[in-house]
Amino acid sequence: MNSVKVGICGLGTVASGTVDVLRKNAEDISARCGFPIEIAQIGARRDNPNVDTSTINVTRDIFDVVINPEVDIVVELIGGYEPAKALVLKAIENGKHVVTANKALIAVHGNEIFAAASRQGVTVAYEAAVAGGIPIIKAIREGLSGNRIDWLAGIINGTGNFILTEMRDKGRAFDDVLKEAQALGYAEADPTFDIEGIDAAHKLVILASIAFGIPLQFDSVFAEGISKVSPIDVAYAEELGYVIKHLGIARRTEQGVELRVHPTLIPARRLMAHVNGVMNAVMVHGNAVGPTLYNGAGAGALPTASAVVADIVDVARSLATSSKQPIAPLGFQPETLSGEMILPIEEVETAYYLRLSVVDKPGVLSKVAQILSDAGISIEALIQKEHAEDSDLVPLIILTNKTLEKNCMSAITSIESLDTICGSVVPIRVESLE
Ligand code: HSE
Repeated sequence: MNSVKVGICGLGTVASGTVDVLRKNAEDISARCGFPIEIAQIGARRDNPNVDTSTINVTRDIFDVVINPEVDIVVELIGGYEPAKALVLKAIENGKHVVTANKALIAVHGNEIFAAASRQGVTVAYEAAVAGGIPIIKAIREGLSGNRIDWLAGIINGTGNFILTEMRDKGRAFDDVLKEAQALGYAEADPTFDIEGIDAAHKLVILASIAFGIPLQFDSVFAEGISKVSPIDVAYAEELGYVIKHLGIARRTEQGVELRVHPTLIPARRLMAHVNGVMNAVMVHGNAVGPTLYNGAGAGALPTASAVVADIVDVARSLATSSKQPIAPLGFQPETLSGEMILPIEEVETAYYLRLSVVDKPGVLSKVAQILSDAGISIEALIQKEHAEDSDLVPLIILTNKTLEKNCMSAITSIESLDTICGSVVPIRVESLE
């Protein structure tokens, strides 16, 4: 083989990093493959001042790339659902292999795209879709293929982690940090995807599918964002020995599979509690290996390009040996994917941090404790602060033991109906990650 030629669609942050990595590491990449990887064409509506395209065939119509007979691998880096889906399906129809960093596309349309790729005998690789530069897809699909995966939990949105870290460490305002994340190219085109947990939900669905051998089911994920996390809760969590992280959690239980994204208190002694800024980390627990932890940059041009180029190299190597990619897209043969039920959030069992504002008078605490006890919820820890001079309200912080979400929510409704409780109870889920 003389070379493998890629056609890149899109010229944003990740595409600019991909061109950069293919150029600066060309010698190593060529030595690894046994032949060079060449950029045959770039399709992009506009130029990117950070990318020198003077020696590359550039088209303004991204669909030119998928019909270009020179192109072996189409690299889809435009993001979003459309026209990315149409582009990828057209590339597959034309017998092109596809490398994509598009988590939204894989999470929502992956089942259809993989089926089309299988019919055409081409590969769709998506390492860069989850956790930026961390090779987590490869780790689960290949490195842990001897295990039955019990659960995984991860910080899988760099923007959200960057915001929470800056708020906690520097007391910066939410909007201010978000603007910086956008300027650095971390945030999604629509940043509510980062803040409201949608981006993390896309990634969690993909991780759960390859971990458990279930079809991609984006509609079944529970997602709660970080916009309501207040600095007071960050401080109380710290006092209790916890850190608040925005986690994606997937767990097999006897009742079904949990798939949830939400702010979570985790013990400060866990390594994951120290994963800060734009870094991502994923813990995966396999029944043979036990707990494993993968850590690295979760967003940004070069880290994400690292994963894109690794996929290009993988596909290029398989082209050179004319062997069909031996790994099914989700790691399990399509006909073996299981129909295990995804649990509604009400049926999920976890511990809770509850913050209440209560009137400082005798008997209040016992009433709250009685409601929790009636709901079968045991109290693990409790903090009550003195009231401020100008108020007779005091904050009461309760850590519960594990309980079903529906029991906790019903207890919260009863607590909020007490006339000695002011406003709403703030619940945040707690995970020990043991
Ligand atoms: N917006 C995403 C993040 C980019 O912040 O993690 C990487 O997927």
